[in-house]
Formats: sequence, structure tokens, C-alpha cells
Amino acid sequence: MKHKAVTIDGPAGSGKSTIARQVADRLGFVYLDTGALYRAAALAVDEAGADPADGKACADVVRHAGIELERGRVSVRGRDVTEAIRSHRISSLSSRIAVHPPVRDALLDLQRSFREKSPLVAEGRDTGSVVFPDAEVKIYIDASAQERARRRHRELVSKGSDISYEKVLNDLKERDQRDATRSIAPLVVPQHAVVVDTTHLRIGEVISKVLKVVQDKLAD
Ligand code: DC
Repeated sequence: MKHKAVTIDGPAGSGKSTIARQVADRLGFVYLDTGALYRAAALAVDEAGADPADGKACADVVRHAGIELERGRVSVRGRDVTEAIRSHRISSLSSRIAVHPPVRDALLDLQRSFREKSPLVAEGRDTGSVVFPDAEVKIYIDASAQERARRRHRELVSKGSDISYEKVLNDLKERDQRDATRSIAPLVVPQHAVVVDTTHLRIGEVISKVLKVVQDKLAD
């Protein structure tokens, strides 16, 4: 059975994870963090010592990595990697392996399987354009690169990192470029998506705004 789907896409640091999690909570839908699956895939590739530039080799690792996502915890072959996948190194690596069609293919069925179990709010880069093109509601969250880098920098520093703002901004711009220009499933505003720019909004304001859009569309 195919349940209702709300998709929330956008670039790194746009605030989409926080928004998607809260919207899912309010609706009583499952929250599907597709980036966490790409991150778990990157960790598996890293640990297997596969070449991140070799799409087929990466996909082989990913298909056999036993990636699972349940109640917000991500595991690889039964080992909880929820915190480990949030490192700066895995952020870059996940975007590098995500350019390969075989890797994206390897994660597609897994992502779609969640909608067979329950209604969901899916968050990522291509959830409205590729993974769930027939989703009932599609949202695209954006913010300026500087604001997104400021948010990411604050988050990393609060976790004990001493990384500079400039490095975070440079890496984020590089990641944006890669995510938006790859030949398969690039980051795009999906057709019929409602665009919300969060640069000058507080998170509470964004959540109210997105919730209203979602509730209105689901009621249609
Ligand atoms: O949302 P995030 O920062 O956790 O995602 C990490 C990387 O995974 C991102 O740079 C690109 C990739 N990704 C993707 O290609 N498609 C998705 N739907 C989600 C993430």
C-alpha cells in the first residue's frame, strides 16, 4: 500500500531536517531522513576502503551494507552509526558518492519501502523530484549560503569541533555545486513545490508556515 507522502528538499543547512522532523511529529507521520541513508552509505564505503570515485565499487558496498533506519537511529550491519555519520568527513564523502547513478539506485528501493509502511515526511535533495514524484505535498526549503554556513558552523562548534567558519562556507559551496550539477537526480525545485526561504525567518516561523501549507494541501 502507498501511503501519503510530504517531501521536503533543499540544500545543506537550509533547516530542512528540523522542519521535516517537526512537521512529521505534528502530523503523526514517519520522518524519513534520506540524507542519513546517504551518510550511512558513505561510512560503509569509507570503512570498506572502496574508492569514492568508483560508482560501481561504492554501489556494491552499499547494497551489502545492511543499512537500516528505525525510529531516528541509523545502523550499518546492526551497528548504530547515528552519531558517527554526522562528522564533517562523512558530509563531504556522502555528497561525493551520491553523484554515482548505481549508488542512487542502490538506495532508491530502500527509500520507497518506507512509504509502504506508513505516511511519511521525506527530507533530502530529490525526494520530490525522483523518489516520490507523486507525493501529495512538495516543499523546497532554501536560505543563503552564508546563513546556512553560519548555522552549520554553530552546530559543529557546539559538538566540540574547532573548524573555522570559512572552511564550513567553502565546503558547503563545494557540496552545493556537486549536489546541484550532478547528472542524475540533481538538487532542483520539484514541479509543483512550494518554495520557502528561511534566510530571515526564525525556525518557529518556518515551521508554522510549512505546516499551514502541508495541512491545507492534505485537506484538498
Ligand atoms: O541532507 P544531508 O546533508 O544529510 O545529506 C548528505 C549528502 O547526501 C548530501 O550532500 C547529498 C546526499 N543526498 C542526496 O544526494 N540525495 C538525498 N535525497 C539526500 C542526500
